[in-house]
Amino acid sequence: MATVISNERLVNGVYHLRVRGDYGGAMGQFYMLRAWGAYPLLSRPLSIHRVNGDGVEFLYHVVGEGTRILAELKPGDSLSLEGPFGNGFPAVTGKVALVGGGIGIAPLYYCAQELPGSDIYLGFSKESYMTEAFRPHAAELTVNVGGLVLEDVDFAQYDHIFVCGPHPMLKAAQLKAMAAGTAGKQPKVYLSLENRMACGVGACLVCSVSCRDGNRKACADGPVFLAEEVLFHG
Ligand SMILES: Cc1cc2nc3c(=O)[nH]c(=O)nc-3n(C[C@H](O)[C@H](O)[C@H](O)COP(=O)(O)OP(=O)(O)OC[C@H]3O[C@@H](n4cnc5c(N)ncnc54)[C@H](O)[C@@H]3O)c2cc1C
Ligand code: FES
Repeated sequence: MATVISNERLVNGVYHLRVRGDYGGAMGQFYMLRAWGAYPLLSRPLSIHRVNGDGVEFLYHVVGEGTRILAELKPGDSLSLEGPFGNGFPAVTGKVALVGGGIGIAPLYYCAQELPGSDIYLGFSKESYMTEAFRPHAAELTVNVGGLVLEDVDFAQYDHIFVCGPHPMLKAAQLKAMAAGTAGKQPKVYLSLENRMACGVGACLVCSVSCRDGNRKACADGPVFLAEEVLFHG
C-alpha cells in the first residue's frame, strides 16, 4: 500500500496527488489506482505525472465515482497502486514538441523533465492549471485557453511530437502529421491513447485500439502509439 503525502485541489475538479513509496516508471507509463473496497469493481488508470525521491505523483480530473473517491484522500491515507504499466513515450533526441489538451497535460510534465528544452503547448477549454510548473523545463511555453492548442503548433518544425488529450485532438494531430508529411517534413508523432480500461494488463480487450496492422491493446501495446499506426473511427 502507498501513503498519500498530499492531494491538492488545483482548480474545480482537478487534483494533484502525491504518494509516498518505492514507485518509479518511465514517461507515459501509468499506474492502476484503488482507494476503495469492492465498489467500484475496477481500479482506475492514471498516468505518471512525476516521479520524485519520495514516490510518484498524479494529476487527475474528477469525472466519476473512482476519481471522486480519490479526491477525498487525505495526507496519511492508504491506497493501492499497481504498475507501472504500458510502453510509455520513447526517449527521443532532436527538436521535440509536447502538446497536451486538458488533463492530457498530466503525463507531459514527466516528459518535460526528461526532455528539457522541448517546446511545450498546453491547451485548456476554461481554466488553466500547472502551467508555471512546466515553464522551467520548456524552451518555449505556449498556453491556450478556450482555443485549439494544436493550431499553435507548426508540426513541420519538429522531429518528434508527443500528444495527449481527448480523442478529437489526437485525431486532429494525426491529420496535421499527415499534412506535414506531404509538405516534405515528417515529424514522428506519438499519441497517448487513454482509452477506457478494465484489467490494465492485456487480459480483457476492453481497451482495444484499431490499428493498421489489426487490433491492439492500449494497456499492454500502448498507451503510446505512433499517429500513423492508429485508425480513428467516427
Ligand atoms: C493509460 C491511461 C492514463 C490515464 N491518465 C489519466 C490521468 O493522468 N489523469 C486523469 O484525470 N485521467 C487519466 N485517465 C482517465 C482516467 O482513467 C478516467 O478518467 C478514470 O478511470 C475515470 O474513473 P471514474 O470512476 O472517476 O469515472 P467512471 O465512473 O468510470 O466514468 C465517468 C465518465 O467518464 C468517462 N470515462 C471514464 N474513463 C474514461 C477514459 N479513459 N476516457 C474517456 N472517458 C472516460 C465515462 O465514460 C463516464 O462518462 C487515464 C486513462 C488511461 C487509460
Ligand atoms: S484493459 Fe484489459 S486488455 Fe487492456
